[in-house]
Amino acid sequence: MKVLIIYDSVFGNTEQIAQAIGNALGSKKDVEILRVSNVKPEQLTGLKLLIVGSPTHGGRPTPAIQDFLNKVSEPAIRGINVAAFDTRFSTRLVRIFGYAAGRIADSLKRNGGTSHSVTRRFFS
Ligand SMILES: Cc1cc2nc3c(=O)[nH]c(=O)nc-3n(C[C@H](O)[C@H](O)[C@H](O)COP(=O)(O)O)c2cc1C
Repeated sequence: MKVLIIYDSVFGNTEQIAQAIGNALGSKKDVEILRVSNVKPEQLTGLKLLIVGSPTHGGRPTPAIQDFLNKVSEPAIRGINVAAFDTRFSTRLVRIFGYAAGRIADSLKRNGGTSHSVTRRFFS
């Protein structure tokens, strides 16, 4: 199974989660973990599962993740299973702004991804 995990991270929390998911899913041969700034379009071909994670910034994914999502074309990920996760403040006060994972998953599904689930991790 070829799995690609794409993440952005400013302070390292989301990177840690990406690494933990990658380690849990399989060997380095099958699972690639890339910071979003290092992703090239051709790396999206031939995947079984694409996972995208971002810190929540102002209720959204980071600009780099949003930029990546805007560039993902429908044929590139049609039929690929997609999943999303985010990291966020643990306080409930910010929840009115929403969180990154749902927006990432919606975008991937709009572009042809076949399924999604949302993994959440809380940081204060
Ligand atoms: C500029 C900025 C904006 C943030 N906005 C939100 C937010 O709207 N909601 C939230 O729950 N957390 C917010 N956070 C908290 C981060 O999502 C959280 O600390 C995250 O784990 C950081 O991930 P990183 O270590 O991978 O950069 C914000 C943090 C920063 C620095």
